[in-house]
Amino acid sequence: MASNPKVERLQKLREQAKIGGGEVRIEKQHDKGKLTARERIDLLLDKGSFEELDKFVTHRSSAFGLDKKKVLGDGVVTGHGKIHGRPVYVFSQDFTVFGGSLSETHAEKICKIMDLALKNGVPVIGLNDSGGARIQEGVSSLGGYAEVFWRNSMASGVVPQISAVMGPCAGGAVYSPALTDFIFMVENTSYMFVTGPNVVKTVTHEEVTSEELGGATAHNTKSGVAHFASPNDAVCINQIRELMNYIPQNCEGKVPLIESKEPDSSKAKALDELVPLNPNKPYDIHDVINGVMDKGSFYEVHKDYADNIVVGFARIGGRSVGVVANQPLSLAGVLDIDASLKGARFVRFCDAFNIPLVVFEDVPGFLPGTDQEWNGIIKHGAKLLYAFCEATVPKMTVITRKAYGGAYDVMNSKHIRADYNVAWPTAEIAVMGTKGAVEIIFRKEIAKADDPEAKQKELEDEYSKNFAHPYLAAGRGFIDDVILPSETREKLIRALEVSKDKVDAVPKKKHDNLPL
Ligand code: HXC
Repeated sequence: MASNPKVERLQKLREQAKIGGGEVRIEKQHDKGKLTARERIDLLLDKGSFEELDKFVTHRSSAFGLDKKKVLGDGVVTGHGKIHGRPVYVFSQDFTVFGGSLSETHAEKICKIMDLALKNGVPVIGLNDSGGARIQEGVSSLGGYAEVFWRNSMASGVVPQISAVMGPCAGGAVYSPALTDFIFMVENTSYMFVTGPNVVKTVTHEEVTSEELGGATAHNTKSGVAHFASPNDAVCINQIRELMNYIPQNCEGKVPLIESKEPDSSKAKALDELVPLNPNKPYDIHDVINGVMDKGSFYEVHKDYADNIVVGFARIGGRSVGVVANQPLSLAGVLDIDASLKGARFVRFCDAFNIPLVVFEDVPGFLPGTDQEWNGIIKHGAKLLYAFCEATVPKMTVITRKAYGGAYDVMNSKHIRADYNVAWPTAEIAVMGTKGAVEIIFRKEIAKADDPEAKQKELEDEYSKNFAHPYLAAGRGFIDDVILPSETREKLIRALEVSKDKVDAVPKKKHDNLPL
């Protein structure tokens, strides 16, 4: 074919856009153990599905000689593609161009795909790797960030928003990921902080590295800011792809059914023997989840944070559900501030996106102590309560053992409008545990007894017989049934099937006043 200079020009520009900041900087990026913006998109999206937008956009700045330094795309690759055949919008910051810093036009590119995502009801995935505001552009760049933040807020609860932090993310820039639904981080190559180690040293005299201050471990274990940590970019991206299997396109969509696999029969059978009769003996709530849900389907969220509560997505009978479960292995499954926040955030995500909730409950109550009270367990515990109260998706609760006190009410009880509540025969639904109850209500009798120890034991046996079981609650209709653990899967599948078209609403309001 005869050469056509116009076509050649296009091809040349395309090639130019592809290499971003150039080979040397790409090599530097690889040397740090990081993939480039385009390599990340290639891994994230189904093969050949990426449609790039705005690859010819450049910045409009001339300060500091920038008019002589223009790079096609201006440090961010944007567009749409597919994950498991379903469309997503994506932006991927290119650290090889001005350190991925955000200029006015870089922000406009992100805003464009966010506007399209909202209009088209499609999730947005942001891969962040940026030195922050483009310093040369000053307030234009700050304005650009604010435009992104505003869109993050408007899109919240309308389309799922997922952030991966795969490099620096500092200063106000952290607030875009913070406004999204899930944050993934990569160990050792990513960090997030409002102020970096140098400022920290000046202000508080603390010596801390970037990784210690705001790396994947810090945010997955200490602050709870991030939900997932991965050893490298490829694993991180694969985790995002997997998450997409469980969530819908938008707040009006539903998650496609995926062919269901029964759990291993040994795991399901073992449920009948799983809960120890001694209420002080722990067991792993993961065994319950894995014995009930479709085989290998549990996708844990916030795994390394507040492990006294376990949350995550799973499938049961092929249907995507959000699981919230107290974990007797950690702090006896007590609810504290961190667990309340973790649970509340997850419940609200599920409710916003039509994902039914399944609760496995074994909770001795709220954690006592000055630390908890002074740091606001009242307002934070209220968030979990509020989240369950306002949720209108199908809500199921299985009480495996303890359901004590206020925590009984909070953990998706019938009274706050759960749809299907059942208990295992090992359930103890009461104001408090046997020992505590007896010590309070029979204190005088025990003190007066000839043999206080024997008297206490006798009263505990009596209390336990009368109160530490599920039949009083069942007699009031507060639970719908007492079932064998091995029956749980089938019962939940049926309950979810019958409530799949549930219609419920909260009263008309401008917005709620969740206790922040
Ligand atoms: C313009 C930037 C930049 C920035 C990096 N670069 N950050 N250009 N604006 N914010 C450029 C560098 O000049 C360099 O260009 C290239 O990106 C790579 O940067 P290096 O410093 O060589 O890389 P590295 O050693 O890996 O260090 C990365 C870094 C560092 C830690 C991110 O660059 C850095 O500290 N940058 C400044 C971070 C910062 O203070 N940003 C503003 C935060 S405040 P060449 O041409 O040499 O390759 C903020 C407010 C947001 O963001 C407000 C929202 C409300």
